[in-house]
Amino acid sequence: MLPVLSSAAATTVAAPAGGPAAVPELAQHCPPGFELRADNGCYLRSFYRDLPSLQNAGVGGPQTGLPALREGFSPQQIDLGRLLFFDPLLSADHTIACASCHQPHLGFADGRGRSVGIGGQVVSRSAPSLWNVGLLKRFFWDGRATSLEQQAVGPLFAADEMGNSPARLQTDLNGTPAYVALFRQVFDTDTIALEQVYLALAAFQSSLISLNSRYDLYAQGFEEALTPAETEGMNIFRSFVARCAECHTPPLFTNQQIAVLGTPEPEGLTLDIGAEGPSGDPSQRGGFKVPSLRNITLTAPYMHSGRFATLREAVEFYNKGRGHAVPEGEKLSLHWHIWEPQLEARELDRLVDFLGALTDEGFKPAIPAAVPSGLPVPVLSHSKSEQQ
Ligand code: HEC
Ligand code: HEC
Repeated sequence: MLPVLSSAAATTVAAPAGGPAAVPELAQHCPPGFELRADNGCYLRSFYRDLPSLQNAGVGGPQTGLPALREGFSPQQIDLGRLLFFDPLLSADHTIACASCHQPHLGFADGRGRSVGIGGQVVSRSAPSLWNVGLLKRFFWDGRATSLEQQAVGPLFAADEMGNSPARLQTDLNGTPAYVALFRQVFDTDTIALEQVYLALAAFQSSLISLNSRYDLYAQGFEEALTPAETEGMNIFRSFVARCAECHTPPLFTNQQIAVLGTPEPEGLTLDIGAEGPSGDPSQRGGFKVPSLRNITLTAPYMHSGRFATLREAVEFYNKGRGHAVPEGEKLSLHWHIWEPQLEARELDRLVDFLGALTDEGFKPAIPAAVPSGLPVPVLSHSKSEQQ
């Protein structure tokens, strides 16, 4: 189904095609949805900020306010981050970019149960969507990073993801004249430092905002934006029987907490201890960060290991009984909201209908037609006209 982005043999490092690339012009304007202020920073415009009815500090319900966003990045920082995000120069063998596993057309996930890194290695978890990551406080399924900058270090230097080393990344970037020129424009520096790379990547990712779905129109007061089936699904989602909104709290549809659910691993794999790894806390064994459900129809398969192929299967998990998939001999401290709602089949269908109303890709960024290294951009594109 998915075209495989073949990576060259690990021993050969792809050379830039056609010699040094021209220095691209960086954007002077903010991405859609952001306004440029006098400090040359981009700030989000959203009705979640403009409507007093959507600024409640309390938790739960459609009136809950938006969490703090990483913003104020300059248009140039954001655009440089975009080029880096799509550039396979960042990996050891120059075949894998961030975008290889976070494909714009797949909700910034990759359509796989578990991602595939350098040399075809299968990594242990599924790639999460990057929509709205600028509004999150912790990153990775086990919540082990607390900033986007800290997060970026993970894939860049993991042997099974991009396989790079800090020294080689710095050498490659400083050996690419177009990047030297761009970093000089943006950071007023002669030598590219990795902190600047992490910052630019964070700036770009923070611009991936999805808050204009039909559900958001509903939250604004346009009740007819949802179909009757979706409205019914929303009411089930919020009900104290289903309890979905206790963890998948609007407006991001995550409360950003770690929760132990006891979801099953793929056939043949042992339990992923999840947040117990970084925290060392046995009560977090098998615990994962509550994922946002925004653009969820675009990011199948589901859960940390992609165990469920469809949204219907993922939703049905909650109906199958508390702890039904916990491996024998494991004692997990399951979250108290994981219970046995005994929803009817049609209620599960309505939940799936409602989740379909959380889709909005209106601010999808343009995929660069060329990146400063001159290497091919490893992204599946629906049409050439989307590139610029
Ligand atoms: C080989 C595939 C792969 C590549 C390449 C990759 N990622 Fe990821 N990304 C993943 C996987 C898998 C996870 C989840 C890992 C985990 O939770 O342990 C993840 C997690 C993330 C997260 C956390 C999202 C959240 O909600 O917690 C961010 C942000 C992210 N990646 C950004 C990047 C950036 C930036 C790059 C490039 C520097 C990159 N990724 C490269 C596969 C990849
Ligand atoms: C106790 C908190 C909690 C409750 C209640 C809860 N969820 Fe979740 N949800 C999570 C966590 C944590 C995950 C990730 C689990 C994993 O990967 O093993 C998740 C994953 C999901 C996913 C897959 C997301 C993805 O990106 O792969 C869907 C869909 C989902 N939940 C829907 C629901 C629905 C519908 C309900 C109500 C019936 C619900 N959830 C109730 C915490 C919760």
